[in-house]
Amino acid sequence: MRPFYLTTAIDYVNGSPHLGHAYEKVLADVIARSRRLQGQNVHFLTGTDEHGQKVQQSAQARGVPPQQFCDEVAGEFRDLCRLLNISNDDFVRTTEPRHKAVVRAMLQQLFDKGEIYRAEYKGFYSTRQEQFLREKDRLPGGSWPEIYGEVTEITEANYFFKLASYQQWLIDYITAHEDFVFPAHRRKSLLEFLADPLNDLCISRPKERLEWGIPLPFDENYVTYVWFDALLNYYSAVKDLGRWPADYNIIGKDILIPAHGIYWPIMLHALGQPPPRTLLVHGWWSVNGQKMSKSTGNFIDPVAFCREWSVDALRYFMIREMAVGQDSDFSREQFLVRYSSELANNLGNLVNRTLNMTVRFADGTVPPAGPCEDAERELQALWTQTRDEVARLNADLQFHVALERTMTFVTAINAYIERRAPWKLAKDTSAPAQALLRTSLATMAEALRLATTLLWPVMPATADKVRAGLGQAPLISWAGELDWSNRLAGATLRPVEILFPKPPPPAKS
Ligand code: MSP
Repeated sequence: MRPFYLTTAIDYVNGSPHLGHAYEKVLADVIARSRRLQGQNVHFLTGTDEHGQKVQQSAQARGVPPQQFCDEVAGEFRDLCRLLNISNDDFVRTTEPRHKAVVRAMLQQLFDKGEIYRAEYKGFYSTRQEQFLREKDRLPGGSWPEIYGEVTEITEANYFFKLASYQQWLIDYITAHEDFVFPAHRRKSLLEFLADPLNDLCISRPKERLEWGIPLPFDENYVTYVWFDALLNYYSAVKDLGRWPADYNIIGKDILIPAHGIYWPIMLHALGQPPPRTLLVHGWWSVNGQKMSKSTGNFIDPVAFCREWSVDALRYFMIREMAVGQDSDFSREQFLVRYSSELANNLGNLVNRTLNMTVRFADGTVPPAGPCEDAERELQALWTQTRDEVARLNADLQFHVALERTMTFVTAINAYIERRAPWKLAKDTSAPAQALLRTSLATMAEALRLATTLLWPVMPATADKVRAGLGQAPLISWAGELDWSNRLAGATLRPVEILFPKPPPPAKS
């Protein structure tokens, strides 16, 4: 099978990680883990974006040198990956020599090819966004939108990349490649944006204005524009591994236009490299219906949240709640609803019942299944249907629906247990009742094992705990694991801690 390379955006280190950063990494991780289970050789990259004005200013505000500041915050992002059980193969930092060397080599290459030129530029500049603005960026009254912060008119000599000369090539490329942007409506907006003429891209910042960047190889009085530097991480980190192009560049909706949808494919094309196969564009989380922000108190710190609940509960909630590509809202109430009903009462309860009943009625060893009746056949048919549907949904990135279907299967296992009522069968010593008891215990255990194979990419730690409870090794492949079988017959079960403790009742006001 062909190798698979996926990346997340690299996070700015001017602030601590938040829910949005956590989501993007978990989404990428779910894809990486699913692909590995399918036998693909996956390379998964994430990292941090460490140059530019914002980082320089944040370091100054803290009174520490920028490199020290970056080291500290990059450490927080790395720790977040570990905490969230993200299976990234590499973590790239744009201040690393391996990245800087590639950026400089690429700039030199473009300069030598005549793709970069020097020119005098006069224009309005936003320090906050680190970009020159166009007249059409103004509000109807003539002022600049708040997102640009302070805007000043400046004249300076700079270096420009010939972006505009590739506009038609890009339009043709996007038109011919339907898979270049997911979801489709984002591809449409990108093409709409390209209906207006592009300007060339200013790729330098004079050192007197900004020091914290990669010096241009052909003029050391300038540093590289942070986006030009940052985008190249996807390439610099794998250049020597021969992994380019990426299969998925996973990004949030705010950084498709112009950075990933325009600059990035054109930069690559000018360098003689193919664009990433797909820009996978996810939506944004709001919190309690509002933009997440520290000042309004609706900032979700993923580290604190995982400590309060659990890593897998957060992973589950984010993937279950957000349709990939659409926006979603995060609230504690909605989290609690899913936590209690889907994780604690449905899945957690199934695990407890299966293990406890096998201990009580079969001395903790899964009995061989006897003859099957309708109840068993129906559950087996539902499994086959669920498994095939989930495979299709995963391939279409519909992870939220795939999880919903998997949980419907879990509900069906619980319903099967009610229907069979092993506690009643256990009281009946007749041979048919005892055979049915063995069948029902074997069916519960096998169905639970199968459900965990589908839950594994989203909740790997939980799924492996359940597997350990069923006497199974951690899951490393889907090969041979997805068929209904008798493999658990004779397996000795082990106790499993409570996976999703019931939350305390809400405080009375
Ligand atoms: N450093 C740039 C990306 C450079 S990629 C070559 C950047 N960093 S960021 O820290 O601001 O954002 C990192 C990722 O997190 C982006 O994909 C962004 O869309 C995503 N999110 C930031 N806030 C988010 C939400 N509230 N919800 C979901 N994702 C969000 O942009």
